[in-house]
Amino acid sequence: LTIYVSLDSAAKALGADDIARALQDRAAARGIDIRLVRTGSRGMIWLEPLVEISRDGGPRIAHGPVTADQIDALLDGTAPNLGPTEDIPFLARQTRLTFARCGITDPLSMDDYIAHGGLTGLRRALEMTAAEIVEETKTSGLRGRGGAGFPTGIKWDTVRQAQADQKYIVCNADEGDSGTFADRMIMEGDPLSLIEGMAIAGLATHATKGFVYIRSEYPDAIAVMDRAIRIAREHGLLGHSLLGSSHAFDMEVRVGAGAYVCGEETSLLNSLEGKRGVVRAKPPLPALEGAFGKPTVVNNVLSLATIPVIFEKGAQHYADFGLGRSRGTMPIQIAGNVRHGGLFETAFGLPLGDLVNDIGGGTASGRPVKAVQVGGPLGAYFAPHQFDTPFGYEDFDQAGGLIGHAGITVFDDTADMGTLARFAMEFCAVESCGKCTPCRIGAVRGVETIDRIRAGDTAATDLLTDLCDTMTSGSLCALGGFTPYPVLSALRLFPQDFGATREAAE
Ligand code: NAI
Ligand code: SF4
Repeated sequence: LTIYVSLDSAAKALGADDIARALQDRAAARGIDIRLVRTGSRGMIWLEPLVEISRDGGPRIAHGPVTADQIDALLDGTAPNLGPTEDIPFLARQTRLTFARCGITDPLSMDDYIAHGGLTGLRRALEMTAAEIVEETKTSGLRGRGGAGFPTGIKWDTVRQAQADQKYIVCNADEGDSGTFADRMIMEGDPLSLIEGMAIAGLATHATKGFVYIRSEYPDAIAVMDRAIRIAREHGLLGHSLLGSSHAFDMEVRVGAGAYVCGEETSLLNSLEGKRGVVRAKPPLPALEGAFGKPTVVNNVLSLATIPVIFEKGAQHYADFGLGRSRGTMPIQIAGNVRHGGLFETAFGLPLGDLVNDIGGGTASGRPVKAVQVGGPLGAYFAPHQFDTPFGYEDFDQAGGLIGHAGITVFDDTADMGTLARFAMEFCAVESCGKCTPCRIGAVRGVETIDRIRAGDTAATDLLTDLCDTMTSGSLCALGGFTPYPVLSALRLFPQDFGATREAAE
């Protein structure tokens, strides 16, 4: 009897540790021989604590959400079940490339990792030149999964061609967007893939040292990454001689102190160096002058964790998925007031409405969907009439929004969009690093102006639009520059929630 229970922090928050302990204690008391494997998450958060049981080498049968009174029935095989986990529609409809192993393997078992394709990509990369690795990455069409969507291969090429005695790979794991959790899930559920991806990035750019900058709010991810780095060293995935080759690469975890702006790459680099997390002006690009003034690749967790599968299956295999210039798959995070919240990895191109209604199952409250915010707190709101927008970088840009880090937060018809717009400005004011005026002062004035509009001063709508224009064009980074997305989209789509008329809002 093999039993799988997730050790992901979302599963733990819903009681997975207690269920795992109870299964072990009860099996011991009854003399039942079980093998308990703690895996990453399958990403179906509404089913947690999810218990999967395989009998006599058969498929994993899903049970969830499991309650404490079901322990004996689970061991006896009489508990209610959802059938084979892989057949659950939410999972069956996905194309899992980045998350292929997550929820299946023991995250800290190198044997499991290798048995499921791990290290194949690195072995292949070790036989290539740096220029060939970069070329393969360009061919895959992979773009920055942190949100900006800059082509990863081009970024690597800039660093590869830079001349320096030391270069760095920095992984941005400061996942600050509300409603996003894919970086955390991969770090907790398949940390070796991130390490392998960073090692390949090192080969591509001649960087020998890496840092994973993880937000302090992710203690489990920090602990798992620390242990995974030690395991990787023991198995030659890190160290002086990568898998017995003449190439060296090592890395360590650095922990942030809880500032949203430290997810911005230059502010992150300051924090990493032990300085205050204030944004640096670009240029110089981090690719040329990054960590400690040296050429540095700064990539999001998902970008780096996708590299091994690209090298394992070939760039073209990855590029064959997707839509237009949005190639491959995207791990989409469905959250907020939604029935089936979780991680859904799919090729680009699925309409937004399918993600919300079909896959997400509509609102958890059962009320009509009013709006969804895509791309975190700096992303635009979308109303149901825009639900045919295909999920892709360019399509969302054309629709006046962004996909960002692919977080979708659902709101039902009780949401007050004026309050949410005010929150966006307030969030910017609180999290502003203070370096530039449009953001530092603009966000405070933005809160006041929204208050004026909501108090009946409709003339202040023009002022808000002007202020947003200034923030968009004059801010040094995306925090001040993108806050107008949620504010203006809420005003445009739901003027009644501001006490304004639609004409005034437009
Ligand atoms: P950006 O467009 O300034 O830069 C994108 C990346 O490309 C950067 O790493 C930049 O250094 C690099 N780059 C640009 N030209 C290059 C060249 N010629 N050679 C090499 N590298 C080059 O965007 P930024 O400010 O880095 O990111 C903004 C995005 O961050 C937004 O779209 C937003 O969606 C996202 N975001 C994500 C969050 C999260 O939690 N993941 C939180 C907040 C924002
Ligand atoms: Fe700092 Fe805001 Fe300016 Fe960004 S936009 S540099 S967070 S003050």
